[in-house]
Amino acid sequence: VTLTFERVADAQAAKRWHALEAHVVPLDHPGMVADPLAEVEHMAFGPRGDEHVQLYLGTEEGTDVATASIWLPMRDNLENATIFLAVHEAHRRRGIGTRFAHDLFARARAEGRRRAIAFVASPLDDDGAGPPFAASLRGEPALAVFRRQLDLTSLDTATLDALVAEHVGGHAAGYEAVSWVDRVPDGLLDGAAALMARMSTDPPLGSLEWEPEVWDGARYRTREDDAIARGRRRYATGAVETATGRLVAYTDIGVSWAQPVVGYQWDTVVDPDHRGHRLGMLVKVANLRRFRTAEPASERLQTWNAASNAHMVAINDLLGFVAVERSTTWQFDL
Ligand SMILES: CC(C)(COP(=O)(O)OP(=O)(O)OC[C@H]1O[C@@H](n2cnc3c(N)ncnc32)[C@H](O)[C@@H]1OP(=O)(O)O)[C@@H](O)C(=O)NCCC(=O)NCCS
Repeated sequence: VTLTFERVADAQAAKRWHALEAHVVPLDHPGMVADPLAEVEHMAFGPRGDEHVQLYLGTEEGTDVATASIWLPMRDNLENATIFLAVHEAHRRRGIGTRFAHDLFARARAEGRRRAIAFVASPLDDDGAGPPFAASLRGEPALAVFRRQLDLTSLDTATLDALVAEHVGGHAAGYEAVSWVDRVPDGLLDGAAALMARMSTDPPLGSLEWEPEVWDGARYRTREDDAIARGRRRYATGAVETATGRLVAYTDIGVSWAQPVVGYQWDTVVDPDHRGHRLGMLVKVANLRRFRTAEPASERLQTWNAASNAHMVAINDLLGFVAVERSTTWQFDL
C-alpha cells in the first residue's frame, strides 16, 4: 500500500483538503465546522502575513485519508511550529497518523523549527485517541485548556443587562466602550498592538515554551488585513480611559462571512494597570450584544481558555458558555 504526503499546491488539492476537513471536524469536535473552501484557498495560496501556513494531504491508493497543516510564526517564536493533523475515521489505528506526524516534524525541522506544538482534543469524559497518540510521539502535555461554547440563539439581552448591572455597575466609571469592525481606529492602533502583545504573556502558558510576541501597529494592521483577505469579519469592542483617550482593554470575535454559523471568540485582554474595573465583562457583553445583532445567522460561539485562567473562565461562565471539550496543548521536541 502506498501512502503519500503532499503539500496542497493547486485548487483541486485545496478542494480535496477542504472536503476531508468538512467530514472530520464536526465528527471529532462537536459544534465545530471546517473552515470554508475560500479560506482554505487563502491559507494555501494567499499572500503571506506574519505567520506562514502550509497545508498537507495524506493519500493512500488514490483515497484522501488525512489532512494536516503547519503554522510557522515569522516575527517571533522562530523555533516553534504549530501542527494540526487528522486521519479519516475509517483509516485510523493503522499507523497513518504516526507516519504523517514524522513527515510533518521533518518539514518543520527543515524550516528551522525545534519545537512542535499541537492542540490535542478529547471528549470531556474520556481521553479519546489524541492523548495516547501524542504520548506515543514522545510529546509532553504543556497546558490544560477547555473549549467552551455559547448558544447564541438563546442569548437574551435582558440577561446581558442584568450581568452588567450586577457585575460591572459603577466599577467602570472613567472608561468608555468603543466598538469597531475589521480595523481598529488609527488613534487606538498602538494601544491595540500593545494589548495584543500581552496575549502571549499574560494568560497562563503552563510549561509551553512560547516567547513573548513582538507587536507594533504595522504588524497589527497586517494581522487585520490578513483576516479580511481570508474572509473573516472581526467585531471588536475596546475600553478607552476617558481621561487619556488610551485603549486599555479589548475583545474581538471573528466570523466567516461565507459561513457565519460558528463564531470564534479571539482575544480578550485588559491592561494590568486597569484590571479590577470589570472591563473584561464590560467589553465582552457590549461586543456580544453587537455581534448577535449584526450576525443573526451565527448560532454558536467558541472560546478556548486555559483551565487555570480563573478570571476569564468566571466571566465566560456568567455569560453562559458551557465546557464542551478538553483541548490540551502538547509540545514535541524536534
Ligand atoms: C489522533 C489521530 C491523528 C491518530 O491517527 P492514527 O492514524 O489512528 O494513529 P496511529 O495508527 O499512527 O496510532 C499510533 C499510536 O497512537 C496511539 N493511539 C492512536 N489511537 C488510539 C486510540 N483510539 N486509543 C488508544 N491509543 C491510540 C496508540 O499508541 C497507537 O499505536 P498502536 O496502534 O500500535 O497501539 C486520529 O485518531 C485522529 O485524526 N483523531 C482526531 C484528530 C486529532 O485528535 N488530532 C490530534 C493529533 S495530535
